Amino acid sequence: MVKKRRCARRKNRLNKTPNSPLHHFTYKNDRLFAEDVDLTALADAIGTPFYVYSEATFRRHFRVFADAFAGSDALVAYSVKANSNIAIVKTLASEGAGADVVSAGELQRALHAGIGPKKIVFSGVGKTRDELSFALDAGIYQFNVESEPELVALGAIAQEKNLSAPIALRINPDVAAGGHANISTGKSEDKFGVPWARARALYAKARAMQGIDIKGVDVHIGSQIDDLDPFETAFKKVAGLIADLRADGCAIERLDLGGGLGIPYGEGATPPHPDAYAQMIKRVTSPLGVQLIFEPGRMIAGNAGILVSRVIYVKAGEERRFLIIDAGMNDLMRPALYDAYHDIWPVQKNDNADTETYDIVGPVCESTDRFAKTRRLQKMQSGDLIAIMSTGAYGASQTSQYNTRPLIPEVLVNGDQYAVIRKRPTFDEIIEKENLPDWLV
Ligand code: LLP
Repeated sequence: MVKKRRCARRKNRLNKTPNSPLHHFTYKNDRLFAEDVDLTALADAIGTPFYVYSEATFRRHFRVFADAFAGSDALVAYSVKANSNIAIVKTLASEGAGADVVSAGELQRALHAGIGPKKIVFSGVGKTRDELSFALDAGIYQFNVESEPELVALGAIAQEKNLSAPIALRINPDVAAGGHANISTGKSEDKFGVPWARARALYAKARAMQGIDIKGVDVHIGSQIDDLDPFETAFKKVAGLIADLRADGCAIERLDLGGGLGIPYGEGATPPHPDAYAQMIKRVTSPLGVQLIFEPGRMIAGNAGILVSRVIYVKAGEERRFLIIDAGMNDLMRPALYDAYHDIWPVQKNDNADTETYDIVGPVCESTDRFAKTRRLQKMQSGDLIAIMSTGAYGASQTSQYNTRPLIPEVLVNGDQYAVIRKRPTFDEIIEKENLPDWLV
């Protein structure tokens, strides 16, 4: 049975040994559980599809990352875009996380979840003047400025308010990295950051601006990076830049190294452990004597969530057998956007069952509405439940209501308790945001 109660805080439950599991989604007597919650019972209670998160996994991943930098002056600013539910942000806040935000909305979420402004950094190429103004008033720790016009706008707004904006310039180091072309950000042709060749000149300009207080340098080269080499190349370049900037008379006291560390998705490369990442970073940055800032997203959230969905039909096509499930690309965009691989597990496992090869697809009217191609699974039937694994990051936060499919619930599990932390809207709630003009009424 599933018990529904408000989440109670429960510390010291985590296994912190290096061999502790990647996540807390496990089979008990062949039924898949999230921690101690039976997912079959949960699906019956709230309906499918839904995201379910393991609080213990979130906490564990945050601790593994933070512990890797224990003893260093480091701020771990969770990248809210990965999973922005306030219950998740609050869970991480209680572990001491700061936040990396990219919009006024995310900033409000972080503040609402109890993250102090002095632990918040604001990234993004297109911060509006209103957003800059709001963040200045909130007193955030750092603006990661991505262009000259943004620098000028921020300086002017700060000066008007008689404030000084703490900034780092995000430098584009022209290093290729990332699990897919669509999530690489550090090449010179990418829209992100200030071009490498302009960095010193822009810092010189910033120094002369009244509303600007230079604090550091920022770099973020991409996401789902499963190799330390591109990180090291970029970070060494940036360390060299810090030396140059100091020679130019800039007091650089912080270095924001962004996020990007990959996670195992069950296939292919195994990304480096945070300890190896930390060792490399300490080696490259310790001579600089700077405070380090990190913006991990996927590494914290990715394996802490799964998407549970029910098979609607099993359809025999001419060449393929389709498993048509009730989750669609609007609920999980990653396979459609980046050809992303996710493990798919049956919720009721039967190791003796025959297997079958399926294309696992959703109901949305798009050919890209497909979660897996020619995937070997135990034989499934209409009504069976499946779990799309490792969808805690960039799953729920990228959802849409395309095809007027309501945003799916998010559920947080803590031991044998669960709480619905975002509910499924009704059709009335969806259309009440729309209006008929007078001439149509
Ligand atoms: N900092 C900045 C400035 C970023 O742009 C990002 C991610 C992060 C930190 C966090 O990166 P992470 O540690 O999660 O790799 N939707 C894509 C990923 C987009 C990443 C965008 N920026 C996906 O599902 O793979």
